[in-house]
Amino acid sequence: MAGRFSQQNQRVRPSSKEDQVVEKAKEHFERTLIQIAGSVAGSVAALEHPSHDEALNYGEIFLRDNVPVMVYLLTQRRYDIVRHFLTVCLDLQSTTYQTRGVFPTSFVEEGDALLADYGQRSIGRITSVDASLWWPVLCWLYVKHSGDEEFGSSQKVQRGIQLLLDLVLHPTFEGTPVLFVPDCAFMIDRPMDVWGAPLEVEVLLYGSLRSCIKLMELSRRHHDSRLLDQRLVLTRQWVHDLRQFLLKHYWVTSKTMQVLRRRPTEQYGDNQHQNEFNVQPQVIPDWLQDWLENRGGYLIGNMRTGRPDFRFYSLGNSLGCLFGLLTSPQQRALFRLVLHNRDHLMAQMPMRICHPPMDGLEWQNKTGSDPKNWPWSYHNGGHWPSLLWFFGASILLHERRHPHADVLLMGQMKALLEESYWSQLNQLPRQQWAEYFDGPTGTWVGQQSRTYQTWTIVGFLLLHHFLRTRPEDVEILDLEELFGTGADNDEASASESQP
Ligand code: GLC
Repeated sequence: MAGRFSQQNQRVRPSSKEDQVVEKAKEHFERTLIQIAGSVAGSVAALEHPSHDEALNYGEIFLRDNVPVMVYLLTQRRYDIVRHFLTVCLDLQSTTYQTRGVFPTSFVEEGDALLADYGQRSIGRITSVDASLWWPVLCWLYVKHSGDEEFGSSQKVQRGIQLLLDLVLHPTFEGTPVLFVPDCAFMIDRPMDVWGAPLEVEVLLYGSLRSCIKLMELSRRHHDSRLLDQRLVLTRQWVHDLRQFLLKHYWVTSKTMQVLRRRPTEQYGDNQHQNEFNVQPQVIPDWLQDWLENRGGYLIGNMRTGRPDFRFYSLGNSLGCLFGLLTSPQQRALFRLVLHNRDHLMAQMPMRICHPPMDGLEWQNKTGSDPKNWPWSYHNGGHWPSLLWFFGASILLHERRHPHADVLLMGQMKALLEESYWSQLNQLPRQQWAEYFDGPTGTWVGQQSRTYQTWTIVGFLLLHHFLRTRPEDVEILDLEELFGTGADNDEASASESQP
């Protein structure tokens, strides 16, 4: 297979080891799968280090870590496992008054009992909002791909969705379509000053609501319900408003920055909408100018009164493409930005989770001197191989949706993706499929990194699958109909250059 591909692309370093590495990765992956109630329900977060005689160092099934696992199982048509995983998660959806509707961060079977963590057992005692938002997305992808409409429209699933929607669609003090969360509420689960409306949560909310709509529409086909109709109207409106909000306040390019820097500040009153968050031009960081260059664009990390977070978050931006939140020209502007900043974002181990890292006093104040989130480490500028497949899938899905758009750029992106894939293939087996990598180039295995981390292994397998085995399977990730025309992501293309 390596040979066939390298004929098409001369820049690829052929490696006779490709098939071997993939086979070995598949073996590791099989060992991560564990049973709940007698059948396989998902993967543990990490396998033990083979040379250490320890028990599993991360033996729980994390909902977020199982996102790539479930997508991979869909590509393998192993639908029973995905359905069982979804069902177990659904059984564990919280029913207690204060957290009703929340899905667990992780769970494990102990004896005959299922032990779930809704945040009460985590270091910071914070609930993972992303776990709850991912569930409807995974459920819809499963239903769409397997054709199991019976499951999708079952009372159990429909009830779960309504419980989740109750957590989002309710009046708040803010009156904005975003979901407010505390620090540490998603993949970044140690203090990183990501409270408020962090990009990853908001983009996931967008994907989650869209998936809920799809699942509700399924149920609507089978029976009339005024209540369901009302929910559908409200959810569609919410999705629309959320997208407009994020494109207006989070999307930046060199052009939008020039407008933002010269806006008036301190505006009161009904008709003064040029600077709703009263952002002073002084808060715009110096590095942004080169970072954006002329034609790059990205979604910033957060928007809070007077204090936007300009850091770049790889996962939120990739999901912005996959879920069709960004228009297609915006997606290409994001690709240009990654290409331009590849020394930072890809470097030796693709790809960096968040850029730039905080250091000195800022690190002390904003992370509470967190020793794991040391500059260039872990969430604070560390490199996570598990993130590459999300970005890779964004490129590949974009190419399928828009095969004739900017072929030169897309050729460069494909080459970047190939090189990133090879750098993982060449390093990860030697580095024991580590969880994360440290330092400005991401060369060193993370200081506290676990090894044989499931999403590192399965992320690589997914990329291999999309690049080599069945490229059309990337459409599994499209939230629209199977092999449909893609999201309505051209509709708002006019907003590309608007602040
Ligand atoms: C760490 C990561 C989190 C992940 C978990 C299990 O806590 O920060 O994102 O889900 O490990 O791998």
